[in-house]
This record gives sequence, structure tokens and C-alpha cells, in this order.
Amino acid sequence: MEKALKDKIEIVQGDITKMEVDAIVNAANTSLLGGGGVDGAIHRAAGPELLAETRTIGGCPTGEARVTKGYRLPARWVIHTVGPIWSGGYGEEDELLAKCYINSFKAALELGVATVAFPSISTGAYRFPLKRAVNIALRETKFFLQHNQSIKKVMFVCFGGDVYKKYQELSKEIFE
Ligand code: APR
Repeated sequence: MEKALKDKIEIVQGDITKMEVDAIVNAANTSLLGGGGVDGAIHRAAGPELLAETRTIGGCPTGEARVTKGYRLPARWVIHTVGPIWSGGYGEEDELLAKCYINSFKAALELGVATVAFPSISTGAYRFPLKRAVNIALRETKFFLQHNQSIKKVMFVCFGGDVYKKYQELSKEIFE
């Protein structure tokens, strides 16, 4: 019996670099050469080989995803995706953020992973409004899980309490 969709997602508060999942998603920038926030944390935890590998990729356009190994991370893979920088919502920020989730799931499918963890993409330095971003994250995840059975667990790893509360609140609307 297929698990109910809501049982396939898990919302936690914590540090994504500690998550024991097959793949973690990084909120990177187009250079893929590291940065602050979750990008900085992932590079610090993975060690210098991560940067050595991302250097060979040659960047990543906004909305797309690129895969590397996880090196010293518990996760075997890192799926680097580049979220949109919020600029008022008159551009295609919503569509680009949705593409981050779609392309990260596509990469996870190609890797054949069963568990994947996401940070709250674009809601930090890129200043995407939180509720709007969480809605996109949860709706894209629901759509993906409705059409793909191979991923058994999607974790949303929230660094701050406000993000955690927003995921909890909106997941009740979208998944129950
Ligand atoms: N684990 C989980 N989430 C984290 C962690 C962590 N260790 N560190 C930060 N976060 C959270 C932030 O609190 C925020 O909710 O990740 C979310 C995304 O914030 P950012 O890391 O600032 O990412 P983003 O808004 O997408 O901006 C990306 O910032 O770090 C640079 O190189 C990165 O230029 C890129 C930009």
C-alpha cells in the first residue's frame, strides 16, 4: 500500500549538513564556488574536495541543478541549485524557484536516491518572501510525489524557527 503523500514529507529544524539522507540540496549561486548561508555550511562540512569538483562544472544558471559527491558530508550527493534573487515579483521569480525544485527532483530521480533534504531555497540572502517560497516548495513537492514513487522521503530542513513554523503551517493546508 502506497504511503500517504503527507507521510513522505518530514519538516525538521536543524542543520542540513548533518542530515543522514542520500542527497541534500544546496542553495548555491550561479558560480557554484560557495558562499555564505547554507552554501557556506555545506562547503565547510563537505571539505575542499567539494569546491574542487564544483570548479570543474563551470557554474549553473538560476533555476537549474548540478550534482556533485558529498565528500565528508553524511549525504552521498549534493544537488546544487540556484534560486532566484527576489526583485519584487514582477519578473519570473516564482517560476524560477519552482524550477529549482523541479530540477532538483529530476536530478534526484537520475541519481536513483530514496531520500532527499531541501533547505528553504532563496529565503535567506536572496530575500524571497517566506510564505510565497514555502508554498512553491510544498506544491512542487506534492506534484512530484503524486507522479513519482521512487523517492520515499523528502525532508525540509529549517534553520530558523520562523521557517519551521511556516512549513508546518502550510504543509497542513497543502498535504492534509
Ligand atoms: N542548514 C539548513 N538551512 C540553512 C543552513 C543550514 N546549515 N544555513 C542557512 N540555512 C537557511 C537560511 O536560514 C535560509 O532559511 O537556508 C535558507 C536559505 O538561505 P541562504 O543560505 O542565504 O540561501 P539563499 O537565500 O538561496 O541565497 C543564496 O547566498 O550563501 C549564498 O552562495 C549563496 O549566493 C548564494 C545565496
